Amino acid sequence: MGPAHAACALLSLAPLLVLGVPPIWTQPEQVHLSYPGESGSMVVTWTTFNKTESYVEYSLMGGRLFEMTAKGEASLFVDSGKEKRKMFIHRVILTGLKPAATYVYHCGSAEGWSDIFFFTALNNSTSFSPRFALYGDLGNENPQSLARLQKETQQGMYDVILHIGDFAYDMHEDNARIGDEFMRQIQSIAAYVPYMTCPGNHEATYNFSNYRNRFSMPGNTESLWYSWNLGSAHIISLSTEVYFYLEFGLELLFKQYEWLMKDLEEANKPENRAVRPWIITMGHRPMYCSDDDQDDCTTFDSYVRRGRNDTKPSAPGLEDLFYLYGVDVELWAHEHTYERLWPVYGDKVSSSPHSCIYSLCSGSVTEMCVFLFKVFNGSKEQPYLNPKAPVHIITGSAGCRERTDRFNPNPKEWSAFRSTDYGYTRMQVVNATHLYLEQVSDDQYGKVIDSIWVVKEKHGYSSWF
Ligand SMILES: *[C@@H]1O[C@H](CO)[C@@H](O)[C@H](O)[C@H]1NC(C)=O
Ligand SMILES: *[C@@H]1O[C@H](CO)[C@@H](O)[C@H](O)[C@H]1NC(C)=O
Ligand SMILES: *[C@@H]1O[C@H](CO)[C@@H](O)[C@H](O)[C@H]1NC(C)=O
Ligand SMILES: *[C@@H]1O[C@H](CO)[C@@H](O)[C@H](O)[C@H]1NC(C)=O
Ligand SMILES: *[C@@H]1O[C@H](CO)[C@@H](O)[C@H](O)[C@H]1NC(C)=O
Ligand SMILES: *[C@@H]1O[C@H](CO)[C@@H](O)[C@H](O)[C@H]1NC(C)=O
Ligand SMILES: *[C@@H]1O[C@H](CO)[C@@H](O)[C@H](O)[C@H]1NC(C)=O
Ligand SMILES: [Fe+2]
Repeated sequence: MGPAHAACALLSLAPLLVLGVPPIWTQPEQVHLSYPGESGSMVVTWTTFNKTESYVEYSLMGGRLFEMTAKGEASLFVDSGKEKRKMFIHRVILTGLKPAATYVYHCGSAEGWSDIFFFTALNNSTSFSPRFALYGDLGNENPQSLARLQKETQQGMYDVILHIGDFAYDMHEDNARIGDEFMRQIQSIAAYVPYMTCPGNHEATYNFSNYRNRFSMPGNTESLWYSWNLGSAHIISLSTEVYFYLEFGLELLFKQYEWLMKDLEEANKPENRAVRPWIITMGHRPMYCSDDDQDDCTTFDSYVRRGRNDTKPSAPGLEDLFYLYGVDVELWAHEHTYERLWPVYGDKVSSSPHSCIYSLCSGSVTEMCVFLFKVFNGSKEQPYLNPKAPVHIITGSAGCRERTDRFNPNPKEWSAFRSTDYGYTRMQVVNATHLYLEQVSDDQYGKVIDSIWVVKEKHGYSSWF
């Protein structure tokens, strides 16, 4: 064999020589928390690529480290991409936590433990004043607000994070490696405070399977819609995507609608609304927006707002439902901008006698058509003091590869404040009457560029009159 042939023989062996055996993936990663809705509990969720058992070892901060252990389960998630990548999603529910106490924990198994993290069990008092950061549309690439959110969360500025849809851009891409990397990126937020989510359009691929498998929200809808309570607030998370991806099942739209009605009915029982007067919704695609991109929210006949009549049976929208049950604040994203609205209903800032409001409750219809002219602002000087319609906030500018959107130059009269800066929103539900919202601009190094107090001496449908 000449030297050339010898080299060829070596080369053809090379793949075998360098490949060796693949690594063992038993090390926990992508650690994140969520609140399962029961006082004194928390769910820890993480990923390994090889199967291991699922344990969380934890203890009170300052106590003997890891003196308690909780066991959970792992479920196999097979991504639907070409490689059919497999991963194990581990879920452990911690119960019996002392409200407002701080715990340290790690998660994993005898085959490997995560880093050590800490969290504060949510205070379960109805007079607790929770502080939220909220945003949508945060991606793996160009996640402009991420570092500021990581730092502020670790400084203890927030009790809960609300991510209002559109993660990673997109979790399924590169055989779900984008999802993995995004979940690693948010670990330094989500391993410290509950990270509460709803699905957005960027999760739709393979019927939302990356979203449904990776998160662990309350209820048994694979994190698609659910509600929970904190302080004086009842918070409802929903999927606006059921109005758009009919191929995954029109029945989901009706299931969610029925569930929303029941949930709102329950939340409005006098004994419940008395202790949790604030009803706050979060969903990805807004009913209203004044961007120039022709999205659903730019049209009068927004599917989310007005429903669809091209389905059989036709599908009810959400605006009337939320109005009739006295929803106070509606949080949205999807538009890569921030926009605050004056109290709005029926695409208007006031109602006239011609715009009778139809009601689910028989008897109240006539009453609702009687009034003459009514401005939804609480008053001209203080529009958010006892507003006569829900308050909408659109906050989808956390940062992603699609950059920010643009506004149309002539917004409708309900548009109160707009910004195309990257950023996110802070919210504090201070007490039964006072709720505070402010917008942080990351472009302006954390400057607060907008803020309002929503003050309501009364809540519920009757507070509109
Ligand atoms: C670990 O996971 C990889 C990737 O799914 C797989 O190919 C390998 O067989 C697994 N190893 C063990 C020991 O389970
Ligand atoms: C709050 O937590 C304490 C301690 O676990 C418990 O005794 C109490 O019943 C809880 N209150 C509510 C309203 O859940
Ligand atoms: C929970 O919050 C309430 C209201 O702020 C406060 O009075 C109470 O002390 C807190 N609970 C604990 C255990 O810190
Ligand atoms: C999509 O997922 C939802 C939630 O699991 C399920 O109810 C629905 O049947 C699925 N749709 C299709 C077409 O598989
Ligand atoms: C159906 O909805 C469209 C807008 O989405 C509207 O233009 C049309 O008038 C509606 N048709 C009926 C019969 O209500
Ligand atoms: C609502 O209040 C704002 C702020 O005072 C004001 O600019 C706007 O014109 C008011 N809208 C109506 C319909 O009065
Ligand atoms: C609610 O919070 C506001 C703002 O901090 C405060 O002015 C008001 O007195 C509080 N109300 C009650 C009943 O504590
Ligand atoms: Fe979106």
